[in-house]
Amino acid sequence: MSAVSQLLASAPVKARAASMPGWLLPLAVLLCSYDPAHAGAFKATGHGNPVTGVQRLADSPTGSCGQCHTEDSESAANAMALWRENDNHLCYECHRQENISGVFPGQHIYQSSSHENDPAVVWPGPRPPARLGIDEDGKCLNCHDPHGEEDRDGLIPSLLPAREATLCLTCHDGDPASRSIAEELRKPYAHVQRRSFGRHSADEGGDPNRYAYTGGNRHVECSDCHNSHAIFRDSFPPMAPVASKRNARVGRVRVSNGPAGSTPTYEYLLPAGSGSEVLEYEICFKCHSSWTRQPPGESDLAVSFNPNNASHHAVEAVGNNPNIDPNAFVNGLSASSIIFCGDCHGSEDPSLRGPHGSQYPNILRRPYEANSMPRTVTSEELCFLCHSFETYAASMGSSLALEASRFNPPAEPKGHAYHVEEEDLPCFTCHDSHGSPRFGALIVTGRNPGLMSFDMRPSGGTCTQSCHDPRSYTLNYPR
Ligand code: HEC
Ligand code: HEC
Ligand code: HEC
Ligand code: HEC
Ligand code: HEC
Ligand code: HEC
Ligand code: HEC
Ligand code: HEC
Ligand code: HEC
Repeated sequence: MSAVSQLLASAPVKARAASMPGWLLPLAVLLCSYDPAHAGAFKATGHGNPVTGVQRLADSPTGSCGQCHTEDSESAANAMALWRENDNHLCYECHRQENISGVFPGQHIYQSSSHENDPAVVWPGPRPPARLGIDEDGKCLNCHDPHGEEDRDGLIPSLLPAREATLCLTCHDGDPASRSIAEELRKPYAHVQRRSFGRHSADEGGDPNRYAYTGGNRHVECSDCHNSHAIFRDSFPPMAPVASKRNARVGRVRVSNGPAGSTPTYEYLLPAGSGSEVLEYEICFKCHSSWTRQPPGESDLAVSFNPNNASHHAVEAVGNNPNIDPNAFVNGLSASSIIFCGDCHGSEDPSLRGPHGSQYPNILRRPYEANSMPRTVTSEELCFLCHSFETYAASMGSSLALEASRFNPPAEPKGHAYHVEEEDLPCFTCHDSHGSPRFGALIVTGRNPGLMSFDMRPSGGTCTQSCHDPRSYTLNYPR
């Protein structure tokens, strides 16, 4: 057998069609050869819909095969009797503009995106079969089958050839995409993807149950945080709170904040439009705030991060404590920095971005336990990515470092160094990780061991602890 006929005999129809640009099938043969199960899927897709489906030729039924496969002169030179050459321009004939209620941002945006431009974006198979041949990179067909596919759970939404996250992870497992997100998701703490639930649909915006916890259904999809058609490399590292361009044009929840401790008012923003930037925390608030129905016991992070709280980590706006000594920080941070959720939540591998998975609980980039029991605090812990270990956890540190915290007064015992180093109390004993509506300095009460009450004054404060009587302290320098 010649190489060509061997290929024809062995390769599945799809691969064959794709690898032979000049190969012409008579229309009748083409349509007859079509597997009926496949055609069943087609009828249920957006393309096959008899009312709203593909419509180009007024004299053929809407949503029929003949809208794309024709025997007229237009198709004579094209493979598979397609009326346009089998490349993205076929799709652009009908999908040139942005779909303002959906996720497709239009031809111009897609054409400058990573998935169109990176030569490695070629479907590797095995199911559906690999796309062989040249000029396959960047094609819509790497992620879409214009006829639709079914699996044992029924029609796969959005003309995808496989469900998310299988679709994305077939490439994003290290080959052909360079980094393995699949490996991240296999780590013990991860944003789990539950294949069988399918996509959240783009029109869920007005639905109060969107992403809601109603039993075992709560899950995450790649497309909750990425728009496959609008992913770009950043020319400069992203500046919080504006998300990376890898997260451009995704649905998100904007907040208007009220007084400390209150639930904000929410506004759902559709993926469409370049008018307003995507702020990273707005993506997270789709699922981690009271905009949705959260599982019992989970915190409403839109309440925690309200900048009107007595204190809050600087995610939505700069912190409320502008006088923190610059020497108390490391890695170029200061009291006026703004940080991402992803600066704390993400892979333990610092070269891999995104909160996909980690070997540490709560998907943290460094170890930290949500537990106030005494333990040896090491310089590996999360907080020291930004706060100085010498200031907060080492009584033998330089006086410059020690004096940088107000809670290390000149007189012994030094508040931070004493509690953390000598009493082995972790930061969690006294501090919330996100925000504190009532107390300054992210102080939290009610943990055991921990603080039962706290009273902050400009020159100092008083703590009542579960481990000893009330004690007052004097600040190292004023608040
Ligand atoms: C929106 C345009 C469009 C519509 C409508 C459409 N097709 Fe296709 N068809 C394509 C494209 C594009 C390809 C090339 C696919 C590829 O390269 O993988 C194709 C390929 C094919 C092939 C080659 C084998 C394969 O699956 O790749 C067959 C057979 C086929 N179509 C039959 C049909 C039938 C039957 C219908 C109606 C039930 C239909 N098509 C409707 C665009 C369309
Ligand atoms: C002849 C016009 C036409 C062509 C060509 C065309 N489409 Fe479509 N497409 C449509 C219409 C019409 C819809 C349905 C829109 C709706 O329901 O609002 C649609 C819907 C879709 C959807 C959403 C389907 C769903 O079930 O949710 C995807 C994805 C899509 N097209 C991708 C493609 C790709 C990829 C190509 C190129 C291979 C392509 N289209 C070619 C007209 C076309
Ligand atoms: C890297 C994978 C990928 C590529 C490449 C890709 N898409 Fe998509 N597309 C998706 C996914 C995933 C969805 C569903 C997203 C969702 O539900 O949020 C989607 C949804 C859509 C929709 C759904 C309707 C809408 O507007 O919201 C259209 C239309 C569409 N794509 C068209 C295209 C066209 C045209 C191309 C090529 C120019 C293309 N896509 C390339 C992954 C891809
Ligand atoms: C056909 C293979 C393929 C599929 C399917 C695919 N991607 Fe990609 N994607 C790539 C390649 C190749 C790159 C280029 C950068 C790289 O090598 O990682 C890329 C880049 C990206 C990037 C930017 C990474 C960077 O380094 O700039 C993101 C984010 C991304 N893809 C998300 C997705 C999501 C979400 C899906 C599923 C909806 C998806 N991809 C489906 C191949 C694919
Ligand atoms: C579409 C919904 C959704 C979005 C958007 C989302 N998450 Fe999640 N997140 C979840 C679900 C569901 C879980 C629980 C996973 C599990 O335990 O199976 C989770 C778990 C987590 C956890 C681990 C908590 C724990 O109890 O183990 C962290 C941390 C987290 N998400 C951070 C983020 C950040 C940061 C963002 C924004 C960049 C974000 N999430 C966006 C749904 C979402
Ligand atoms: C300064 C670091 C830091 C930042 C910034 C941060 N987190 Fe956390 N987060 C933590 C730590 C540490 C824990 C675990 C200990 C705890 O629960 O207090 C945690 C726990 C969580 C949990 C699980 C427990 C819970 O409260 O539900 C979720 C979900 C979460 N974070 C999401 C987010 C989101 C979303 C953002 C941004 C809006 C964010 N985090 C910003 C450090 C941070
Ligand atoms: C909870 C939100 C969220 C989910 C879900 C999510 N990502 Fe990401 N992803 C991000 C963020 C945030 C980044 C970091 C962007 C940046 O700063 O460059 C990122 C980065 C990436 C990168 C670039 C990594 C690097 O270091 O080069 C790839 C590739 C990627 N994501 C693919 C995926 C795929 C595939 C899925 C689904 C399996 C997925 N993501 C799910 C939020 C998410
Ligand atoms: C025994 C309780 C306790 C423990 C444990 C504790 N802190 Fe504090 N921390 C405080 C108090 C009280 C203040 C408030 C001082 C004031 O009134 O301004 C504070 C203030 C801070 C501040 C604000 C800036 C400053 O230093 O004045 C930072 C940052 C801080 N702590 C970080 C940490 C870190 C990191 C850890 C763990 C290594 C930690 N703290 C452990 C009680 C504690
Ligand atoms: C990614 C960097 C980063 C990490 C990691 C981080 N912080 Fe912070 N933290 C900051 C910045 C920046 C500020 C100053 C602005 C502000 O108040 O948020 C700050 C301020 C604080 C404050 C003082 C807030 C006030 O209003 O007085 C406390 C307390 C604090 N952090 C505790 C912690 C603890 C405990 C951890 C570990 C769980 C931690 N931080 C991890 C960046 C970080």
